[in-house]
Amino acid sequence: MNAKDNLKNANFTLTDNRSGDTYDLPVLSGSVGPDVIDVRRLYAETDCFTYDPGYTSTGSCESKITYIDGEQGVLLYRGYPIDQLAENSDFMEVCYLLLYGELPTGEQKVQFEKGVTYHTMLNEQLNYFFRGFRRDAHPMAVMCGTVGALSAFYHDSLDISDPKHRMVASYRLIAKMPTIAAMAYKFSIGAPFMYPRNNLKYAENFLYMMFSNPCEDYEVNPILSKAMDRILILHADHEQNASTSTVRLAGSSGANPFACISAGIASLWGPAHGGANEAVLNMLEEIEHPKNITKFVEKAKDKDDPFRLMGFGHRVYKNFDPRAKVMHQTCHEVLGELGITNEPLLDIAVELERLALEDDYFVEKKLYPNVDFYSGIIFKAMGIPTSLFTVLFAVARTVGWVAQWNEMVEDPSQKIGRPRQLYTGETTREFVPLGQR
Ligand code: CMC
Repeated sequence: MNAKDNLKNANFTLTDNRSGDTYDLPVLSGSVGPDVIDVRRLYAETDCFTYDPGYTSTGSCESKITYIDGEQGVLLYRGYPIDQLAENSDFMEVCYLLLYGELPTGEQKVQFEKGVTYHTMLNEQLNYFFRGFRRDAHPMAVMCGTVGALSAFYHDSLDISDPKHRMVASYRLIAKMPTIAAMAYKFSIGAPFMYPRNNLKYAENFLYMMFSNPCEDYEVNPILSKAMDRILILHADHEQNASTSTVRLAGSSGANPFACISAGIASLWGPAHGGANEAVLNMLEEIEHPKNITKFVEKAKDKDDPFRLMGFGHRVYKNFDPRAKVMHQTCHEVLGELGITNEPLLDIAVELERLALEDDYFVEKKLYPNVDFYSGIIFKAMGIPTSLFTVLFAVARTVGWVAQWNEMVEDPSQKIGRPRQLYTGETTREFVPLGQR
């Protein structure tokens, strides 16, 4: 289904020193969700732009991939509720769904997994590329650099006008991200890189590359690989968030997919976005004991203090984050499986959640725990170092980025993204030579 003109119009008058003319703008409807006022003709007709920094009221594209109802706490991938996918599906199936629009048949799934698995190894030359980084580099810095560098290695999938190239690049990105993430970790601890094992499932293979070494046999705990798979599903796509919009904007100029995904990783790194999972754990460690929670909640409410409760709040969810619900349950499952009955950080997290949810400030502003609130505790319990948390978010989100990038490239109405501005700088003035300033 495409956006349709619902025959409603938005009617407005430009007053105050202006013509007083009245304008009609079309209103478009999607399959579900708020209508949008189509302002594409606005500048040509009125000589005005819209102004919306942070895009709080702006739709940037038409998309069929993911839908969020922030008031109801709903997240759908291609129409399927996230909790149903997390419960019944697996990450490879979800990747197929996001890329192709439908759940795969048994045969399609086998072929897809085979296709992705075929690309898990990196060009061997990339091993030397890693050695150019400092050992103490943040893994997200390594990730940005290495994914961007893929475009220097895979020349046979850079022609974005060729659907086959686009799909091969997409498979490559999905397949190679866990390998790069595990290599970033191994490099940081001076351990040998582990090659992927293509007889393992996607999440299992990642845990294998992270925690195995060439000297010993290693068996991945199936409960942990199941939990990791579920975490990947929960993070796989999220509509037009900052990193996805970055991928689309970078791609709108015709840039190659590896460069675009590298741009997305850079955007994800920030603590207001994917970097929040790392920031949550650092915050819980800083709180140290439940008795200190009130002090941190007060700090978060203080207008003169920039501190925010990390893992709380969301631009779109104003009821609850459906991903956080599943994450909460997974957290308890993982800790149970690992026999961790006494995790002080979890105690702090539970108490912090309780206090914040009872506090008028958080209630009035509709600030609820988001997906990042519990993911860090799970990752920590699995033995994943804090600096790698956002890298895992990037591994999971890659399929969403490539699905959105493909959708944009295939959209016949696609144009280079080029916002305008409200200029408040100097007007024209004469250049003053150096000696006269
Ligand atoms: N702690 C304390 N106050 C907050 C918080 C918070 N975590 N989040 C928002 N507020 C307040 C904010 O100060 C503002 O108050 P006022 O209206 O009095 O100025 C109000 O709530 C609205 O905040 P905003 O910054 O205008 O909202 P936004 O939609 O621009 O920001 C957000 C959304 C996620 C960036 C923000 O809630 C935040 O910084 N949260 C902490 C970081 C975090 O957990 N990020 C992960 C997001 S979910 C994963 C992902 O999608 O990447």
